[in-house]
Amino acid sequence: MIENRKEWSAWVTPRALRSEPIHRWYTFPHSFTHQLVDALAEEWGLGGHDLILDPFVGAGTTVLAAKLGGIPAVGHDLSPLAVFVSRVKSTHYSLPEVQKAWNGLLPRLVPGNWDMPQGAYPQLVIRALPSKLLGAFEGISSGIGRMRCPEATKDLFRLALLATIPDFSQAVATGGWLSWVGKRRTKAELVPAFRLRMQKILEDIRESPAPCNGNWPVSCADARKLPEADSTVSAVITSPPYPNRHDYTRVFGVELMYGFLDWERTRDLRRQSFQSHPESRPDRPTSTEYFPPPRLIKLLRELKEAGVEEKITGMISGYFLDIFLCLRELRRVCKPNAPIALVLGNARYAGVPVIVDELTATIGEQAGLRCERIRAVRFRGNSAQQMGAYGRSPSRESVIIFRNGKDRVTNREGNPSYRRSGRE
Ligand SMILES: C[S@@+](CC[C@H](N)C(=O)[O-])C[C@H]1O[C@@H](n2cnc3c(N)ncnc32)[C@H](O)[C@@H]1O
Repeated sequence: MIENRKEWSAWVTPRALRSEPIHRWYTFPHSFTHQLVDALAEEWGLGGHDLILDPFVGAGTTVLAAKLGGIPAVGHDLSPLAVFVSRVKSTHYSLPEVQKAWNGLLPRLVPGNWDMPQGAYPQLVIRALPSKLLGAFEGISSGIGRMRCPEATKDLFRLALLATIPDFSQAVATGGWLSWVGKRRTKAELVPAFRLRMQKILEDIRESPAPCNGNWPVSCADARKLPEADSTVSAVITSPPYPNRHDYTRVFGVELMYGFLDWERTRDLRRQSFQSHPESRPDRPTSTEYFPPPRLIKLLRELKEAGVEEKITGMISGYFLDIFLCLRELRRVCKPNAPIALVLGNARYAGVPVIVDELTATIGEQAGLRCERIRAVRFRGNSAQQMGAYGRSPSRESVIIFRNGKDRVTNREGNPSYRRSGRE
């Protein structure tokens, strides 16, 4: 069932997206590329009458790629940052309208007027963008707010501003965490950086005309409880967080607390996120159908014996419950036999491999899906620390492909059993 697709390896990292029109406006550390979406859409013969769903929309790659290919699509995410980014990237713009608004904004970008921030910000933002820098971000932001132009155009400017934060922030995302650096950037440098971003955006709107009839909506929702009606989705192309402790609310803490949430609501988002990091404690839908597969129980025992802390074993156990809840929802919203592709990465703790793709395949069968195949696309090296202690042992990143097999579920022994039609 596991096949090699190493030629897809560049498609599961965001590197290539950073030079692609529109996609480059904002990427996430684990974005996949539009080539993956294009290849799957072609393989599955998707077109204008279909609907693609991405329940973990991130930076919006699936929705935008679907839009550029003329296929209807919908995206959701728990993070308001992801929803904002994806929505802005998948909106239609009129170049003359955006250009006119931009010409109107330019004379208002006068750094001399910006000094100390007026708003109340969490400490993280104040530390990351020391005094005058934060005042300058706020100055541009309030200039955008005062413009007389459609809200969608203002959001385009806001996205360009948000995308400059990493160039100025003293808190830098390295791997899954923030580390502090001593950058010496001044408020005077912000305007040229912002203008550069906007130039690229204007260039992309000019050169990549996308279809304008149709809409590609993105909204805030939990992948464990989707808003879609039953049997309405033709295909799913998505990537849930990996169980690697990376916490998007920390990696994007400055952006989230600068533009979207206060400290308490950022903490709530952290808790409610998929249990892929130890601080997640989500309120989830209940399930009497889920039972951890024997292989997962064995894995949890091995991790414990290897001395892995309880907060990590608890996280892994919760992670696979989340995977089940999400796959159960996908089974509900997808049409019979609809294809579902999940990009996922295996992990390793204290030298013990966590074979996420195979466990997900088993749990998908339990949720009523049929696993067609696992495509191994990339092998990531382990950290220098892990390599020193446990030797070189790369972790697999895979695309797991299911078909919605509506009525088939597996029993506790892992054998297929068949339920009567209708929802349980
Ligand atoms: C690996 S990223 C998706 C990247 C995306 N495929 C792209 O190309 O940019 C995973 C996303 O899942 C989101 N997320 C975490 N928990 C979630 C949940 N319970 N429901 C919906 N989204 C969630 C995170 O906010 C993050 O944006």
